[in-house]
Amino acid sequence: MKLADDERRMLDGGDGPAVQAAMSLLVRYGEILGAERMVDTDNVCGANIFGSHQAGLAGGTGDATFAEFSLDHHGGFEIPPVKAHSCQLIGPMDTQEWRTQGVSQETHDAIMDSESYSGRHGVHLMNTCTPYQVGNVPVRGEHCAWMESSAVVYINSVLGAMSNCEGRESSAAAMLTGKIPYWGLHLPENRFATVQVDVTVDVGTVMDWGLLGYFAGDVVGERVPVFNGVAGTPDLVMLKHFGAAAASSGGVEMYHVPGVTAEARTLDEALGGRRPAETIQYGPAERAQAYEKLNSTGSGDDVDLVMIGCPHATLDQIRDVCDLLGDQKIADGTTLWVFTPRAIRLLAERDGYSERLRRAGGLLMSDTCPAIGRFVPRGTRMVVTDSAKQAHYLPAIMGIQGRFGTTKDCVEAALTGRWGGGL
Ligand code: F3S
Repeated sequence: MKLADDERRMLDGGDGPAVQAAMSLLVRYGEILGAERMVDTDNVCGANIFGSHQAGLAGGTGDATFAEFSLDHHGGFEIPPVKAHSCQLIGPMDTQEWRTQGVSQETHDAIMDSESYSGRHGVHLMNTCTPYQVGNVPVRGEHCAWMESSAVVYINSVLGAMSNCEGRESSAAAMLTGKIPYWGLHLPENRFATVQVDVTVDVGTVMDWGLLGYFAGDVVGERVPVFNGVAGTPDLVMLKHFGAAAASSGGVEMYHVPGVTAEARTLDEALGGRRPAETIQYGPAERAQAYEKLNSTGSGDDVDLVMIGCPHATLDQIRDVCDLLGDQKIADGTTLWVFTPRAIRLLAERDGYSERLRRAGGLLMSDTCPAIGRFVPRGTRMVVTDSAKQAHYLPAIMGIQGRFGTTKDCVEAALTGRWGGGL
């Protein structure tokens, strides 16, 4: 790679051994990817909160753990404060409800130490997969280095920021250097759509967008699709669910919806003036196929867990769950968990939503989710969710059955203990 003077200085150790290790990692990473150079970034979202297991393996100190697990280095040096504006993504533990998760005291203490270490190094502890909902909203053309597929596809497509889907190590190295290899979606020419999806059914609800995203990811893989024929204007929640679904069934990191997303005023602009390599239809049959696939792991109707908030819920989504619950109580033997960023949880507490959920027998949680923290209530056999992403991952991760539907279907399931959803 061609390195600028400041990058060469970092690689040669001029900014200290930790920055040297970070730049060395980025150079190796960039060379493997075929990047010709680095690009400056001042917006990095990564994941550097570790439990007792990792801390023990690395030798116990925060510096050693960061070097081992975030920089792929044997360490022996002090980690300086981050150089780039940096945020912590979702982590493994809810710092308030950790006992409900089944987290041990030892793991809790190690995670709290690790979080405090990150905070002292200048990482903003947003602890969510949706930093764009709580203050980190990159602008169009801003080069970012974010982990978390649902967040990356959102900022690329909806906001027009430029990020590949980074890993823990590359994002940690970007935090310390303010650099990331210039490849993939940092290059304008790679951001045009190459596949067109002609949408011939109404896509007007969160569930509709989840189904379309789930179908599309499966068929387009890692290509950039443009969705032609979508009427109306989807809101943040719809696009959040849509991108998360497309990044789960496939590897979509960028898409266009003409008239909606940042770089697609028209179909032609989304395609960069070229013809699509492939055109795919999305009609009633494809919608039904996506629904069937998402509900394929469930055979019975008894519901153990209802999970809302993947990606992390907005304040309005939390209010909607409260309104659907009204004064009713959830069924005995059924658990209702709603997940949100820690900043939104504070608002939900002030607005009274946490208490309303608790009165109904549910729980508002933050900082984590069942798929990342790998936890469900003991004995759970069936989870239901309004998130195509969670319905895709959680059954596989936890070896349970899953059902996907509307938020209303999910709240009904919490109240009755039975699944009654349908297409
Ligand atoms: Fe976020 Fe967990 Fe879903 S990280 S996108 S709530 S699987």
